[in-house]
Amino acid sequence: MNETIQKNLQYKKYVIDSNLEYFKPHSTKIEKTFAEDVSFSLNQNSKFISPKYFYDKKGSELFEKICDLPEYYPTRTEIQILKKIKPDLQKYLDDSFRIVELGSGSSVKTRLILDVFSNFQRRIDYFPIDISEILTESSELLQKDYDQLHITGIVDTYEGGLEFIENYDNKKNLIIFLGSSFGNFSPKEGKIFLEKINSVMKKSDLFLIGLDLVKNKKILEQAYDDSQGVTAKFNLNVLSRINDELDADFDLTNFKHVAMYNEKDQRVEMYLKSLVNQSVIISKANLSLKMSQDELIHTEHSHKYTISQIQEMMKDAGFEIKEIWQDSQKLFSLTLVSKL
Ligand code: TRP
Repeated sequence: MNETIQKNLQYKKYVIDSNLEYFKPHSTKIEKTFAEDVSFSLNQNSKFISPKYFYDKKGSELFEKICDLPEYYPTRTEIQILKKIKPDLQKYLDDSFRIVELGSGSSVKTRLILDVFSNFQRRIDYFPIDISEILTESSELLQKDYDQLHITGIVDTYEGGLEFIENYDNKKNLIIFLGSSFGNFSPKEGKIFLEKINSVMKKSDLFLIGLDLVKNKKILEQAYDDSQGVTAKFNLNVLSRINDELDADFDLTNFKHVAMYNEKDQRVEMYLKSLVNQSVIISKANLSLKMSQDELIHTEHSHKYTISQIQEMMKDAGFEIKEIWQDSQKLFSLTLVSKL
């Protein structure tokens, strides 16, 4: 038996109907539990909580609200660019391409890409990759609106899903990674991630990535600390989640959401700041947490780039730049690359 077949045997296939199927790994890698993670990360001198815990039901709802805030320019600007570049993007595509999305989308953005494909494909193959089972919900939503859509969802990490596709067949891939999620990686993690993408790509494949641009500090800080306090609620919600799921007694009024733009490292840094000296019991993490006034819990970084940094970063990871598109105010960018 050859390698290719063996590799994809590690996945179980679930056929929902003729247009919708999922692959899930047989054995999911042993991941640390929420309790173990929190017990480690809040027991450090520099405390942190992994941003992946933001997105419980309430957190995901709050994030949707963030995307509609007047101060949060990334989502609507990326949509605006996508609308503008539809004809340009189409020039790079043909009937043998399919869409591979990192993160499962049923959003306006995924739909804009699907609209481009529906101009020249009668059957559109769409392969979303997401570790969360949310993938199944978003796929069903898309299916309702696009008759010609054939969805093959991969419930796995981005790395796992990319390897799955590499071994699946020889169709051309347009890999898309939108929403500036890439900005949440550190430069080092980002480099490893880009190299991974590059290593699974064929010469004929394309990769489209959304990246947020360096800009005025005030605009950035307002985008991450809006006047209605939605972003503050979103950040603080991770403490409610710990209260609910790990039996903790965080008093949310004793914490404040902080967003600071670090000009040197070109990133917005998000923290939860303790307003008093306090101790908190997190029963299921076996932790009695002591925090002093003004002490910070780090929750997320959002890195911003200049166009020349994007060019350099892509070149370093082995890509050739096809286009970099921006909005007229140069707030946000979409970059299309192929493998060198
Ligand atoms: N990935 C989003 C971003 O960097 C997430 C985000 C938006 C976020 N607002 C936030 C994360 C506030 C933490 C706190 O733009």
